[in-house]
Amino acid sequence: MATAPDYPELTAEEAAERIPHGAMLAVGGFTPAGAPKAVPRALARRARALHEGGTPFQVRVISGASTGDACDDELGLAEAVSWRAPYLTSAPLRRLANSGKLDFVDMHLSHVSQVVLEGFLGPIDVAVVEATEVTPDGKVYLTTGIGNAPTFLQCADEVIIELNARHDPRLREMADILVLPPPPNRKPIPINDPLDKIGTPHALVDPRKVIGVVRSDEPDGGRGFTPPDEVSRRIAGHVSQFLLDEMAKGRIPSGFLPLQSGVGNVCNAVIAGLAESPDFPKFKVYTEVLQDAMLDLIAAGSVTGASTCSLTLSDEKLGWLYEHFDDFADKIVLRPQEISNNPGIARRLGVIATNTAIEVDIYGHANSTHFFGTQVMNGLGGSGDFERNAYLSIFMCPSVAKGGKVSTIVPMCSHVDHSEHSVQVIVTEQGLADLRGLAPVPRARRIIESCAHPAYRDYLMHYLESSPPGHIRHDLRRCFELHSNFIERGAMLPELDPSRFGSR
Ligand code: COA
Repeated sequence: MATAPDYPELTAEEAAERIPHGAMLAVGGFTPAGAPKAVPRALARRARALHEGGTPFQVRVISGASTGDACDDELGLAEAVSWRAPYLTSAPLRRLANSGKLDFVDMHLSHVSQVVLEGFLGPIDVAVVEATEVTPDGKVYLTTGIGNAPTFLQCADEVIIELNARHDPRLREMADILVLPPPPNRKPIPINDPLDKIGTPHALVDPRKVIGVVRSDEPDGGRGFTPPDEVSRRIAGHVSQFLLDEMAKGRIPSGFLPLQSGVGNVCNAVIAGLAESPDFPKFKVYTEVLQDAMLDLIAAGSVTGASTCSLTLSDEKLGWLYEHFDDFADKIVLRPQEISNNPGIARRLGVIATNTAIEVDIYGHANSTHFFGTQVMNGLGGSGDFERNAYLSIFMCPSVAKGGKVSTIVPMCSHVDHSEHSVQVIVTEQGLADLRGLAPVPRARRIIESCAHPAYRDYLMHYLESSPPGHIRHDLRRCFELHSNFIERGAMLPELDPSRFGSR
């Protein structure tokens, strides 16, 4: 039973009444994991009722990353959000952001806590945080996603705790919470192994700020991934072969290095593919989301431990974890995102970062976030936290999208999240381009030859060779010709025969 002695009990509706129009609302959790459910749902209902009566009602929402359907989707469908940071995956919010009705601020996830503490975003009026227990002296035991909840609890003027009986109170055995003070009072973070613990099992709140607790019993609503398709499996094959080769050359230690795995279908397939490879050593993970495939690998012994910010598991898999908690309690550490994604720790541990891009250009810039430079997908999440500071930074994507109408290898990215200076390896199902030590033009040749779909190679090579000479060869009049073709004619190269491509 989730416990909260001495705090006023509120219904979700009563709690939602305490959140005023225009408030900066901070929500705990990270992805659907650990995000509050009952209060945001009630807030969306309240917003709808007010809108129907002609009264404006919108809040500004800051969180760890995305949240669950009960929060982002419901508030988005009610058009109850005017500003959102730092990440989203919700289709309703995406529609609002792409139609100019929502100010979405796409942030590096490790930056959020510091930005809040320093006051750049103004005061946090109300924080809603999911927990299994809050004690009279203000210890808050969080659930499946830590996110920025410890910072929000510290900064918010008022706090509402959603006590979710669905979660196992033993989650505190995995939690390792520490809020870094702002500079100049920071000290080195003494994490030398992904499983090192440096904090406490609980966050802290000033009990006088807790205006009430709301009881809930709702699952996170996490969904599993579709099984990897052939394209993802081929990408995974290239990545694991490359990492094995690097180990054989002594450039990765034989005991391997901690792995970070990004979000999405391709990353999920890659992590499963690595562990399936019989020659691959056991490894640890230093990452921000632990998904179903990773839990299976821990259970199988291929992954010996994981540092993460959240258990972003399907509801079935989370239930299974709770049933077998003893097997995992000392193999998973749940951290606030400022630490799970900390650039200094990623650099110290020598993390191998594997993330997915929407498109990459022939010089190695990567776009993780915006289709055709304008339409946001999810945001960059933690990809920049890791890729800029990794021992090895790998970006992956299928070579084509939309049944071949789109080449993901383009002359110039329509939006850049990660620059050629830190992207080191690019992988598609066609092959892998190791860019380390290559000047721009050899890089371009390597990427086109190794990664572009054969149907687009001639175009890209001709673009490169016919562009005016320079350290970087570009023709600024033509660099977005493929994108323009798609927008105007529905395909980047409309003359290509669709039968040259598979299902992508
Ligand atoms: N142009 C147009 N559409 C494209 C495209 C492109 N260049 N590349 C991909 N797409 C579309 C696909 O067609 C697919 O559309 P559909 O859902 O209508 O089928 C969709 O984008 C997702 O593509 P998919 O190949 O399944 O990608 P994914 O699930 O592996 O996700 C990202 C890829 C880039 C969207 C995702 O990894 C992401 O949001 N990354 C940024 C955040 C991040 O890296 N976080 C990790 C931090 S640890």
